[in-house]
Formats: sequence, structure tokens, C-alpha cells
Amino acid sequence: MQKTAVIKNEEWWKSGVIYQIYPRSFMDSNGDGVGDLQGVIEKLDYLNDGTERSLGIDAIWFSPIFPSPMADFGYDVSDYCDIHPLFGSLDTFDKLIAEAHRRAIKIILDFVPNHTSNLHPWFLESRSSRQNPKRDWYIWRDPKADGSLPNNWGSAFGGPAWEWDEQTGQYYLHSFLKEQPDLNWRNPQVKKAMLDVLRFWLERGVDGFRMDVIGMIMKDADLRDNPFLMGDTVSSDAANSYSQQKHLFDQDQDEVHNVIREIRKVLDEYPQRVGIGEVWYELPRWIKYYGANGDELQLPFNFRLMHVPWNARAVQGSVDEMEGALPDFAWSNYVLNNHDSPRLISKIGEAQARIAAMLLLTLRGTPTLYYGEELGMENTMINKDSMRDPQGFRLGREYSRDPGRNPMQWTGDRYAGFSTVEPWLPLAPDYQERNVQVESKDPVSLLSLYRKLIQLRKQQPALQVGSYRTIQVNSPDCFVFERELDNNRFLIALNFSAIAIDLQLPKFPGGKIFLSTYLDKNEALVSNDLKLRENEGVIIKIENTLHNHGMKNG
Ligand code: GLC
Repeated sequence: MQKTAVIKNEEWWKSGVIYQIYPRSFMDSNGDGVGDLQGVIEKLDYLNDGTERSLGIDAIWFSPIFPSPMADFGYDVSDYCDIHPLFGSLDTFDKLIAEAHRRAIKIILDFVPNHTSNLHPWFLESRSSRQNPKRDWYIWRDPKADGSLPNNWGSAFGGPAWEWDEQTGQYYLHSFLKEQPDLNWRNPQVKKAMLDVLRFWLERGVDGFRMDVIGMIMKDADLRDNPFLMGDTVSSDAANSYSQQKHLFDQDQDEVHNVIREIRKVLDEYPQRVGIGEVWYELPRWIKYYGANGDELQLPFNFRLMHVPWNARAVQGSVDEMEGALPDFAWSNYVLNNHDSPRLISKIGEAQARIAAMLLLTLRGTPTLYYGEELGMENTMINKDSMRDPQGFRLGREYSRDPGRNPMQWTGDRYAGFSTVEPWLPLAPDYQERNVQVESKDPVSLLSLYRKLIQLRKQQPALQVGSYRTIQVNSPDCFVFERELDNNRFLIALNFSAIAIDLQLPKFPGGKIFLSTYLDKNEALVSNDLKLRENEGVIIKIENTLHNHGMKNG
């Protein structure tokens, strides 16, 4: 399978590396145990100071930094056009943009369009009376004739998606917490107000948005009941109705694409802006979020590698399926960790963290790193006293997302150099060995590997935007693929197993190892008999053979 891409200069989001910061956990500059924007400013050089000493990322996506009562840690916004005092002010934000741009780092904000906080002035007005002009900005319904809920939809955080409002005698819809009422995007005033929010930040210089649960913003016009996965019509367990239902009517409606096209038009009023979306659906529906002509999201997040079993066949299968399904105009992307998931290394183990790094940074598609992934940060331990995540409180501790939201590990000092006081979430137990200070000094640390991989990707356009094709090999434990641009060819061979493997590459003109995940051998010549050590990945620069395309398509 072969895909080539023509890349235009302004498409930085194709060639660049995105880095997600969960702002509460990155760097606390004012000693309150919670991260803030000034803290990020102080650490920008770590992210990219233009030299090989820094990580070299190209863009930061911030989870929400807006005023919020923090029922869902910022995903319940009470003012879309300001900064939460916990994180700073609009002045701090302007300084952040200027300092980031000075270092060629783009800034991507989190846009939360499906719901506001229940304390947002819009909702306060809406719930004040049935006659209020903003009543229809949210989704209000009477009970059914028999007094039951308006329909059977469940909240993603457990329980029904409807909350009774005593004062006005109606239910309102909340797909998440009752503190997160869903906006009614069918109301043109809502749409206008939300598009104006985008313009507010675009004018301030932000380079794009990650759009929270964007596929959920349109609901079935008649709010019909969802069918149950097991074919039942009545749930015996209302608390779990969300996970038991097929989400036919509460999300992913065809009409959502009209709205996303309008959002994209706003982005396109400004040069070089990117629209990224949190979209979970099965491939055929997921692909629609690019738009039939590439006129919707440039990057619907691809979370598939977070969920496949960690072995060569499953990972390759997922990548090939994606590559095969994408229309020519669409650009792929890969995510291994985020603020809603456990940290990948806690699932795949330390030895495979290096394979994950090489995979993410050599595939054809924009990589998104989650802060601390470059250090190999593991999940932190949460007990019932330290749990903060509402999902954990509602669905049970095993559903808590706190373990992967742990404070960044800067040093081995008390509180890991993250703060001068006890952080809002416990540090992971390994922070004294695994932190920026220790790993920066160690030339073969995971952090050093990430730095090298990102550098290499920058220096070699073939690794950024070159074509991708799978190479068939003799071992089921290895994933081997080729990237090529203008006759610059790289072969990436990844050993997903803990045993050494003698790999037979197909007819091969020869080449040199550019980088091994062990960070020890360089420039070694290789033939088509390639020996990979346990858990080893290598990038090989294939000899330039203008007239000889020896390898067959996989
Ligand atoms: C998204 C966010 C998640 C949040 C939810 C509700 O899934 O990633 O953190 O809780 O939306 O806004």
C-alpha cells in the first residue's frame, strides 16, 4: 500500500509534532499545587529552544484554561473568553502566545462546544424562566405523559442524561455531568455565539482548536430513544444506560457535518489555522469528519493505537487499515496517550516505551505527545482520598482518569520540581529516577531518544510527509515499513517482542542504521539480513538507488 502527499508550506500541522499539556499538571509557578500558564512560559525552552537540547515540538494543545467551577476540571466552561485565575489572566495568555511564537511553537486551545458549565451566565438565564430569551439555548423538555424522563439517553458519566429543574418544571439534557448542560446548536444564536468565541481567540493569535466531543453537538431533532446494544428496549440498569446503548440518536448525526463545515470556514478566515476533533466513531463514520472534500476537520484525532493489543500484527493492522481508508486529501494522525486514558507505558511496559516512541515519530501522520510521555512517566497511584476525577466518583475508582493526569516530573526534589507544595494529585512513585533533570544528563535515556527522533523527523522530510508502505517480513513480532520522499528512503523496523530476531528483509539495496532505540549504534551498515535485539527498533537510511526500486510493495 502506498500513499504519497504533496505538502504545502502552510500545512505545519502535517509536518509538526503536537504536545498536549494538561495545564493543572505541567508546572506550578505560584506555589498553590496546581499548574499555571506562567509555569508553562518558564518551561517553553524545554519544549523548543531551537536547539538540539530541547524536545523540539511544534505546537502545544492546552486542555481547557478558561474560567470554570472545575466540576470536570475545566471541561465545564463558565466563560469562553477569559482565563481561569488559577492559570493566570488574558495578559499571561498574551505573553504565552508571544513567547511561544518567538520559539516557533504554535498554540492550540481546547474548544468545548457541546456543553457549558451550569454556572455559565447563558445557562443561569436559560434556567431562570421558560420565557427567558435564552431558554432555547439549551435542551429543555417536559416529562413524558406518564411522568417519566423525556427519553432513555444516558450520561457518559453514568445515570440518565436528564436533570429535573424544580423552578421551571422541565428537564434539561446533560450528556456528561449535570453541571455540564448541553447547548442547543440548532438555535442559530448559539451557533453564532460559539463561532464568535472561535474568532475571539483567533484574533488573539491562537493557531487552532482541539474540539471536545465535536460529534455530539447535534442531536436527533425528535430526541428519539437510543436502541440498546443487547436488543432490549428497557434498561434494567439506568445507571449504565450510556454504555449499554447504541448511540444512534444522541450523537454523530449527519447534520453535525454542516456545523463543522461552518466552523472550518471560520478557521479558514485566518491563515494556517488547524481544526482537530475528538471523534471516536468506527472508521467509516470517523472518516466523514474530514469532510467529503476535506472541508471539515484537518485532524480528527485517531485514538486507535491506544486501544489495540500491543503487538506488531495488531498495530500494523490498525495503521494499514487507516492508510487504506483515508481519501487522498486526508492526513493521518496518531495518539498514544491523553488526559482521558491511562498512560500507555503502564500498559506496555518500559522496554516497549522506546518502540512506541519510534513508531509514533516515524509513521506517516501527525504525532500528538502527552506531557511526560517523553520521560516514560507512568500512572500514579490514586486512593479514595486522593481521587479528584468526577468520572471516578460516579463510575468507580477503576474509571478514574487521575492516574494519567499526574504532575510533570522535572527533578528528583520534593514535589518533583513541579511545585513547592503538595501537588493537587499525587506524584508517580518513580519520579526520583524518571524526570527531566536525570534524563537530560543521560545520553541513552528515553527523553534523549525522543529528542533524537523529533530532530530526525525535522531534518528528514521523508519521515514527516513521505509515502508509507508496509514491508512483509519473516517475523510476526516485527512491524517494518518504508517512508519515501524524492528518492530518500527510510526503513523502520520495530521489534515488539522481548527476544532478538533475525529479520530477512526482501531484496534490499543496502543501507545504514540512522538510529537505534538503544541509542548506541550509528551508521552501521546493514544487509537484508537484519538482526534486531530484544525490544529494538531501528531507522535505516536505504542507499540511494535512483533506478532501482528493489523492494516489493507489501
Ligand atoms: C472529553 C474530554 C473529557 C471530558 C469530556 C466532557 O471527552 O476529553 O476530559 O470529561 O469531554 O467534556
